[in-house]
Amino acid sequence: MQQKIVLGVIGSPISHSLSPHLHAFLIDKLGLDCYYHAFEVQPENLRAAIDGTKALGIRGLNVTVPHKQNVMAYLDSIDEAAAKIGAVNTIRFENGRAFGANTDAPGFLKNLQFQGVELHGREVFVLGAGGAARAVVYAAKQAGAAAIKICNRTPERAQQLAGDFGAQAVTLREIQALAAGSIAINTTSVGMYPEADASPLAEKFFRRDLIYIDLVYNPVKTRFLQYAETVGAKTVDGLGMLIFQGAIALGFWTGQEIDVEKWYDEVREKIGCKLLG
Ligand code: ATR
Repeated sequence: MQQKIVLGVIGSPISHSLSPHLHAFLIDKLGLDCYYHAFEVQPENLRAAIDGTKALGIRGLNVTVPHKQNVMAYLDSIDEAAAKIGAVNTIRFENGRAFGANTDAPGFLKNLQFQGVELHGREVFVLGAGGAARAVVYAAKQAGAAAIKICNRTPERAQQLAGDFGAQAVTLREIQALAAGSIAINTTSVGMYPEADASPLAEKFFRRDLIYIDLVYNPVKTRFLQYAETVGAKTVDGLGMLIFQGAIALGFWTGQEIDVEKWYDEVREKIGCKLLG
């Protein structure tokens, strides 16, 4: 008899993670003999957690806050996206070795494809310059964006990120100069529950002819997306990227391509109702 495949997520705090709900749904739909568990891991125990995962024969882990960067030091290899982004969110364990990957960037791109948003040839305006922004800038570069402009509260971080990827650090008002059809992406944590009244962009900057994407998914309809809807612009919320990055991770662990599109509405409903906000 084949052994059950054990999977999980490590982070701190982890109790509100949506990943166990997402993976339980996919495992059930696909009829996989897998089990996915949320592990609370403190930073000082990170190395022991990775070594222990190897020793226990666990197949795969997702990695979330605050371990995405630090975990890289304890892995045997990492893929190109993770190396360039500087963060690992998925690890596969095989024969005592740990392979790190980043499914945030491909998850972001697959979701946009599913939502009918084309990055190729478009100007992309990124709000924020943290880890999530790095994944988005990497993805936009890969997708062939015409230009990538980065605006951040701390301008030095925007300059650093722009320098790493051949992008441009800009001020907020440059959003007004974007061509019609350009894409504005919030990668900051502004607007996240419980501070759901906040928007990283003032209402006056919203335009009907841009597409607005928020990586924040709690609440699903952030103030940023509400402002965009009010002017009649197209919007993409953060739940889709979460779903696609999870499906890509499950595919990475099980070796099968997971076609999550056909369950998209169902899975959204399933995980959306687990949100706190
Ligand atoms: P993550 O890995 O989730 O991107 P991070 O690396 O801590 O997290 O980055 C958080 C991003 O949100 C940063 O761009 C941060 O701006 P700073 O670089 O100036 O810190 C941005 N951010 C967080 N709170 C913010 C706020 N109240 N106003 C504007 N930007 C904010």
